[in-house]
Amino acid sequence: MNVISEQIGHILIIRSKGNLKDLKRFAEEQLSKKKYIRTVLLQTNKVSNEERVPSLRYFMGEKKFDTIHREYGCKFYLNPAKVFFSPRLSFERQRIASKVQENEKIINFFSGVGPFSICIARKKPSSVIHSIELNPVAYQYMIKNIEANKCKNNVIPYLGDAFEIVKKQFINYADRIILPLPMLADRALSLAIKALSDEKGTIHWQISGYIGKKENKNDIEKIAKERLEKVVRENSLTNKISIQFTRKIRSLSPNIAHIAVDLTVN
Ligand SMILES: C[S@@+](CC[C@H](N)C(=O)[O-])C[C@H]1O[C@@H](n2cnc3c(N)ncnc32)[C@H](O)[C@@H]1O
Repeated sequence: MNVISEQIGHILIIRSKGNLKDLKRFAEEQLSKKKYIRTVLLQTNKVSNEERVPSLRYFMGEKKFDTIHREYGCKFYLNPAKVFFSPRLSFERQRIASKVQENEKIINFFSGVGPFSICIARKKPSSVIHSIELNPVAYQYMIKNIEANKCKNNVIPYLGDAFEIVKKQFINYADRIILPLPMLADRALSLAIKALSDEKGTIHWQISGYIGKKENKNDIEKIAKERLEKVVRENSLTNKISIQFTRKIRSLSPNIAHIAVDLTVN
C-alpha cells in the first residue's frame, strides 16, 4: 500500500487512498519500530485554505498534538492540526538563510510559526526579520519559537494581514523579502517590490506550477519565466526583474510542484 507520511516532532501524519485495515497495520508498525513516533494523525483532505492548515484527525498512539520539531539546531513548538508546518521545507530554509549578508533588513510576509525567519536569525544574527502572520494560533507559536531559539532581538513578530502591514509600515524598506505562500504569490509580488529599499533587492518568490509526470529542470525554469512575465504584464511593472535561480522544493500533488524562484530587482 502506498502511504504518504511526514514526521513532525513526535507526530506521524499519514495519507493514503488504501483501506483502513492496511492503514492501521502501517501505523502500528511505525509506532512499534520507531520509538520517537508516539502519535499518528490521519490527513483527511488536501490543504486548501488560506491558513494552509490540513484537516487531521487522531488515528493511533498518544493523544498529544502539541509537539517540538527539531531542525538544523532550531526547535519549533507547534500543533500540526492548528497551524501549517512542513519539514520538507527545511532545505529551502537553510538555502535562503545561507544567502543572507550582514545587517540585512528582511520581511517575511507569511511567517507561520516562524521557521524561515528563525533559521535566518540563527545563521545571521546581525539581520532583522520582520515576520508577519495572519493566523493568531500560528502567531502565538511564533512568539514562543522566537524565545525558544533566542532570537528576540532580530525576529520581530506581527499579527495581521501582510498586505496591510507592509503597505502601512514597510514601503521602501527592505533588502530581502520572503514570500513563502504560492497561493498568494502573484498578488504579493508587486507589493514586495515596493517594500524593497529603492525598489532594489532580492525576493524569494514561491510559486506552484503544473509540471506533469516527466518534470525536468527546464520545465521549472520555463514555469517561473512564464509566471513572472504574466505578473509583470498584469501589474504593468516597469522594474528590471531577473530570475537568478529556480528549484523544485517539493511535490504538492502528482503533477503540481512547489517551486522556489529567487528574483533580483534592480
Ligand atoms: C504556507 S504557510 C508558510 C508558513 C511558514 N513560512 C512555513 O514555512 O512554515 C503560509 C502562512 O501564511 C499565513 N497567511 C496567509 N495569508 C496571509 C496574509 N494575508 N498575511 C499574513 N499571513 C498570511 C498562513 O496563515 C500560513 O501560516
